[in-house]
Amino acid sequence: MTAKTIALLQQKGGSGKTTTAVNLSGALKELGYKVIIADMDKDKPDAWSWVIKSDTMNDMAQQVDEKQAREQIAELKKRCDFLVIDTPPNFQTAALKAALLADLVIIPAAPSGMDLSGLLEAKDLAITAGRPYRLLANRIIKNTAMTRSLLNVLYEDGYAFDTAVPQSVKFVEAEAAGLYIGDYAKESDPHIQTRKFAREVVAYFEALK
Ligand SMILES: Nc1ncnc2c1ncn2[C@@H]1O[C@H](COP(=O)(O)OP(=O)(O)O)[C@@H](O)[C@H]1O
Ligand SMILES: [Mg+2]
Repeated sequence: MTAKTIALLQQKGGSGKTTTAVNLSGALKELGYKVIIADMDKDKPDAWSWVIKSDTMNDMAQQVDEKQAREQIAELKKRCDFLVIDTPPNFQTAALKAALLADLVIIPAAPSGMDLSGLLEAKDLAITAGRPYRLLANRIIKNTAMTRSLLNVLYEDGYAFDTAVPQSVKFVEAEAAGLYIGDYAKESDPHIQTRKFAREVVAYFEALK
């Protein structure tokens, strides 16, 4: 298969772009795919810093310079099945190029008003770039009003993943350890939900065939 490029976009910092980029990549690898993480956040390359901490993922990340993004990404795509791009929390050149280069834009949003407005802007960017998008609920805390309103917005949109990623300190600990959630807390709920999300991503591309 030709490599598929997935860009994580969301203007609001802290919504879970980096956490989603790394754990989605780990889960796609667990499912048997070759994955490269392209970190385009040059000021704060958090995805890259995360994976180089341990020897389980340290060959997966590359820093990609926004000036050479098209050429670098074309080269990286020759070596993988999925290229997952992490972007900075703004819509300047890196995020714009990531959107334009993506086969699918994934927009994570946590239950907060700021994430919801960031989500609408990211969606607008994906549509303007002519790219398909999917919304992902992140940091879900069951039975809270903010979570319910986030899920309502996502499911009314019609382009949300069924999976909702729970709020869990295990994600923070996995990052500190430099590990994929499935290696840090195998078969925990955060791992199971992350793998389910990755299966939805694979199914999205399978359905296009
Ligand atoms: N589902 C989650 N549960 C708990 N903490 C999370 C979750 N997703 C992200 N975080 C934490 O929130 C913070 C911001 O997440 P991050 O992925 O860095 O967001 P972004 O890249 O969008 O700025 C990090 O400390 C991360 O560990
Ligand atoms: Mg980040």
